[in-house]
Amino acid sequence: MAPPPSLLLPLFLFLQSCRLSTSALPSLAKRASLSVEDPGDVLVSPSGVFSAGFFPVGDNAYGFAVWFSDHSCSGANCTPVWMANREAPVNGRRSALSLLDSGNLVLTDAGDAGAEVWSSGTRSGSAAELRLNDTGNLFLADGSGGVLWQSFDSPTNTLLPQQPLTRNTLLISARSRYNYSSGFYKLYFDNDNVLRLLFDGPSISGVYWPYPWVSSNQLGRFLYNSSRIAVLDPLGRFQSSDNYSFSTSDYGAARQRRMTLDFDGNLRVYSRERGSAVWAVTWEALSSIPCFIHGVCGNNSLCSYDPAKGRSCSCVPGYVPKVPGDWSAGCVPDFTFSDGCVTDEIRFVKLLYIDFYGYDYNTIFNTTLETCRQTCLKLCNCRGFQYSKSSSGGTFDCYPKIELLNGHNLPSFTGEFFIKVPKNKTFTVDQLVKRTQYSCPPTPEVKILDRTYSKKGKNGALNFMLWFACVVGGIEIVVVFLVWFFLIRNQQDVTSAHQSYLLAATGFKRFTYDELKKATRNFSKEIGRGAGGIVYKALLPDDRVAAVKVLNNATTGEADFLAEASTIGRVNHMNLIEMWGYCAEGKHRLLVYEFMEHGSLAQNLSSPELHWKRRFDIAVGTAKGLAYLHEECLEWVLHCDVKPQNILIDSDYQPKVADFGLSKLMDRGKVTNSDFSRIRGTRGYMAPEWVSNLSITSKVDVYSYGIVMLEMVTGISPTTSVHSLEGGGDAKQVQLVPWARNKVNEPGRTGSRLKEMVDPALKGDYDPKKMEVLIEVALRCVEEDKDARPTMSQVVEMLLRHENDG
Ligand SMILES: *[C@@H]1O[C@H](CO)[C@@H](O)[C@H](O)[C@H]1NC(C)=O
Ligand SMILES: *[C@@H]1O[C@H](CO)[C@@H](O)[C@H](O)[C@H]1NC(C)=O
Ligand SMILES: *[C@@H]1O[C@H](CO)[C@@H](O)[C@H](O)[C@H]1NC(C)=O
Ligand SMILES: *[C@@H]1O[C@H](CO)[C@@H](O)[C@H](O)[C@H]1NC(C)=O
Ligand SMILES: *[C@@H]1O[C@H](CO)[C@@H](O)[C@H](O)[C@H]1NC(C)=O
Ligand SMILES: *[C@@H]1O[C@H](CO)[C@@H](O)[C@H](O)[C@H]1NC(C)=O
Ligand SMILES: *[C@@H]1O[C@H](CO)[C@@H](O)[C@H](O)[C@H]1NC(C)=O
Repeated sequence: MAPPPSLLLPLFLFLQSCRLSTSALPSLAKRASLSVEDPGDVLVSPSGVFSAGFFPVGDNAYGFAVWFSDHSCSGANCTPVWMANREAPVNGRRSALSLLDSGNLVLTDAGDAGAEVWSSGTRSGSAAELRLNDTGNLFLADGSGGVLWQSFDSPTNTLLPQQPLTRNTLLISARSRYNYSSGFYKLYFDNDNVLRLLFDGPSISGVYWPYPWVSSNQLGRFLYNSSRIAVLDPLGRFQSSDNYSFSTSDYGAARQRRMTLDFDGNLRVYSRERGSAVWAVTWEALSSIPCFIHGVCGNNSLCSYDPAKGRSCSCVPGYVPKVPGDWSAGCVPDFTFSDGCVTDEIRFVKLLYIDFYGYDYNTIFNTTLETCRQTCLKLCNCRGFQYSKSSSGGTFDCYPKIELLNGHNLPSFTGEFFIKVPKNKTFTVDQLVKRTQYSCPPTPEVKILDRTYSKKGKNGALNFMLWFACVVGGIEIVVVFLVWFFLIRNQQDVTSAHQSYLLAATGFKRFTYDELKKATRNFSKEIGRGAGGIVYKALLPDDRVAAVKVLNNATTGEADFLAEASTIGRVNHMNLIEMWGYCAEGKHRLLVYEFMEHGSLAQNLSSPELHWKRRFDIAVGTAKGLAYLHEECLEWVLHCDVKPQNILIDSDYQPKVADFGLSKLMDRGKVTNSDFSRIRGTRGYMAPEWVSNLSITSKVDVYSYGIVMLEMVTGISPTTSVHSLEGGGDAKQVQLVPWARNKVNEPGRTGSRLKEMVDPALKGDYDPKKMEVLIEVALRCVEEDKDARPTMSQVVEMLLRHENDG
């Protein structure tokens, strides 16, 4: 009689632990097998980098997998890179992988009466042996050194260095973080030889990378190389036969790397030092986790993105989740129409900053809101309509929708969206406006990029560049939406026409070098020098006065430069400088901006024209511009170099922030230390996080803003003072802040304290109450502890709160 299980268990555990210490196997010969029950039944590669064996994927469920060996990882914590049976996990008892005498490698699930779950389908009369290479390739070698079968030929969601992605292979994401079975996202070579990312959901599918509305040619993809092969090399360079290539942000370092199509639909390259437990993202296809990736939220729901919490979904007002907890199932109406087009049953409710992608019934150009409304009213299956300014300006277009799909929050969206609801259905303001606040509990999603900046050495610089790239990528996302907003309606003609259409619509233009040479009279009138280049005044052929910035060291490829310049070109806010165009020709990289008559704040600080009211307006306007970058762009766009030289003044003395997003246009491959220190900010205005290895957030811009404001009201420049001090350093900056702080806290009457602080150039002509607020806000902005600083929008609010009560 068998002993009761409770006695067996400790014995079993003991045996298991003894087995753990036995060394794993170098290879598996014919007639041998690996058992799920024996933790020692693991193949290891010659130098021990990879292991292959049974990998736990659930409760009593195992996949036969290859993973990165790692002393600190155990079981499900390890990083699998390949799995034989991702769709059909096997039982934790008596399942085995066996190399049969016939040469076939089979995985059997003994829990299910010896069922064969997977096999390599190979035959070999002679000797055969299963081995694991140091590249992570699990292969079946025949007697003569040939390869009968290899795991590199059937990737799952990961591509390892030197593992080619070919016309016969594709990556398919996992279903979720803890479910390795096939998900809905695919990386593959399309029929036109272009490498793409596709969402292939249960009911809809669509390509989302490269952006489908820009022609492949224009993105620099080459359509005529049908060899269809893409490889990541061990140093971090990826090259595809469609001429798409990139280098990871840590290119060149000897690291462990993997390219994984994550369950959230983003394609990323991860790397780490051998032995480290943490993977860092060193490249990603969509540089954020945007709602643009299709299929995030289902039918009738809205996707919002917040870098801290990831993506979240919420239902369109009037709709409820179809399957609570599964947002991909979407939402269904919690009302019924007798028919959907009985006029006196229906009303339309306006949603702000919301748009839906695709599923237009048709497009009605140059029409009125009423006509649009009537169209949707009469169309029984119309669920709502978008009414927005046409891209050529002036007129309005109407887009009745028969499905509400790919909905997302888009703060920069200026059109209107109306949904059809029953007349007697009422909504609270909260339901219509503050949607994101009652969104679903954030599901644990993608890990946020490692944004810490390490000061020493090359890797620090590279990490920073990585981080910066992701920040600038944020702009890209916004632009993706904008571009989409302009273009996607007419998906029928997705060609270069779109690009010119867009360019015409936004006034954004590609210039030739000769045009700009002529416009700047052979670069004769220099008006400034700043991050990365010299700025010249120019008169464009259409008689607009422009500022042309000639970038040094900008060796970014033309296609990338185009993509990035147009990205920045479409960030649009009255307190942000407008980009009109660019030039990328040969080695020349130029940017064309609107010209600011009054130059920069730096040039105006000592001007008598800059009286108190103007200074206050500049404080508010600059804060609004930065708040837009930080918050409307969903916290992704940091400026990182806020200083008086980068705040330009227009003819009405309104400020416009310049030079955001610049570093993306510089060559990221060759960052020297001097470039690096320039890019990361300017001494005197830099937040302490930059030098103390803390994580970089939008609060670095808040800090710099605070310094600029102190400078503007006191007339004391932190930078010139730094130069005058021996040994450089941030000594004076450290003094300016405590000095101001001491002044404010000095006992005595407010009036006299202010008098001692305020720039004598103002000649005492200012509103003491507002001045006090401004100084108080500036001091809060320069708190050492970033969490104690307000956000830019709080700054705006604090400044304006006192606008009308003085
Ligand atoms: C094993 O790895 C070496 C380099 O480490 C490579 O040259 C060889 O082709 C690989 N063999 C297989 C079958 O992957
Ligand atoms: C993984 O997802 C698939 C598809 O939804 C499902 O059938 C399977 O049960 C899931 N596996 C686990 C372990 O949750
Ligand atoms: C096609 O791509 C492969 C792989 O990138 C490359 O080796 C080959 O030279 C390319 N062929 C042509 C004609 O461009
Ligand atoms: C591929 O890209 C390189 C560098 O961007 C360029 O020089 C080359 O002409 C491109 N090749 C094709 C076939 O487009
Ligand atoms: C969207 O939702 C409606 C119900 O509101 C349903 O009938 C329709 O099939 C759904 N479509 C998709 C693509 O899921
Ligand atoms: C738009 O329609 C109005 C009225 O039908 C017409 O007068 C106007 O010319 C149209 N505008 C354009 C740009 O087509
Ligand atoms: C709205 O009207 C429909 C039919 O006209 C009715 O069934 C429903 O109960 C009404 N709902 C409310 C909240 O009055």
